[in-house]
Amino acid sequence: MYKGILLAGGTGSRLFPLTKVFSKQLLPIYDKPMIYYPLSTFMLFGIRDILIISTPSDTPHIKDLLRNGRQLGLNIEYKIQEAPRGIAEAFIIGKDFIENDDVCLILGDNIFYMSDQVKDFQEKIAKNTGAVICGYHVPDPERFGVIEFDENDKLLSLEEKPLNPKSNFAAVGLYFYKNDVIKKAAKLRPSARGELEITDINLEYLHENRLQAMRMCRGTAWIDAGTPDSLMDAAQFVQMIEKRQGLKLSCIEELALNLGFISLDQFEKLILPFPDSSDYKKYLQKILLEKSCA
Ligand code: DAU
Repeated sequence: MYKGILLAGGTGSRLFPLTKVFSKQLLPIYDKPMIYYPLSTFMLFGIRDILIISTPSDTPHIKDLLRNGRQLGLNIEYKIQEAPRGIAEAFIIGKDFIENDDVCLILGDNIFYMSDQVKDFQEKIAKNTGAVICGYHVPDPERFGVIEFDENDKLLSLEEKPLNPKSNFAAVGLYFYKNDVIKKAAKLRPSARGELEITDINLEYLHENRLQAMRMCRGTAWIDAGTPDSLMDAAQFVQMIEKRQGLKLSCIEELALNLGFISLDQFEKLILPFPDSSDYKKYLQKILLEKSCA
């Protein structure tokens, strides 16, 4: 089983002044905080041992929100990243948490809507011998890590924010690694922009022929909600689906119940203190009623 690291630090500089006093990962995506979305991605993958890494100032707020996770049938721990020294530092900070297990890393501003494709991922991950990453077709690949595939879907190259991208496939912020990622991170040197790059870790696996990439299907959604426009896009996307279906996306309490992480009794106790005036509670009460009558 994979443990999960949710990286929720950084300066949020592209969202300034929204992030001047407030954590990016706690900003609203329509009706819930941003961090609920990557957390629910972990839950859908059955990952219940989770380390959240954030800044010294944001960590207390994230802790207030999610506590130790037991109320959701999860185990959530916290560690601080003193300065944004790069995404790959997560494996250095998280070494004692990972212990001898394999690890999945998700970026706290990445929002996924992949419904049935979770199963494809799980098949690929079950055969993982090194690392599994994922590409999503975008119109502006130069903003991301870029994955090049051949006609048989074999991974050919990977470049961080290239000036001349070799494909339209962005590497999304969801990565699965065998335990030796800890050793690779320990040996990493900062890049020209002074960061421990996740792409450098992935390139090591590529050179060892142990990196697999998959493509997210057409009709799935991936949004890196790190800019004002993508934050708005994410909120509108969630609003549209939720209004159309009358069902919520990434509602962590509902997910915990549906996945069998908590019992109906625990669910009832969990939602009791939520404010009656919130639509969120009304939605959860409706679920409680439906499940109680089932
Ligand atoms: O979103 C996918 C992209 O994420 C990938 O395609 C790129 O290969 C990868 O390098 C990364 O690029 P970004 O430029 O989007 O990374 P950013 O600096 O925005 O960091 C992503 C998240 O990780 C963000 O929520 C802040 C957090 N973070 C980042 C750094 C550098 C930390 O918590 N600590 C850090 O030191």
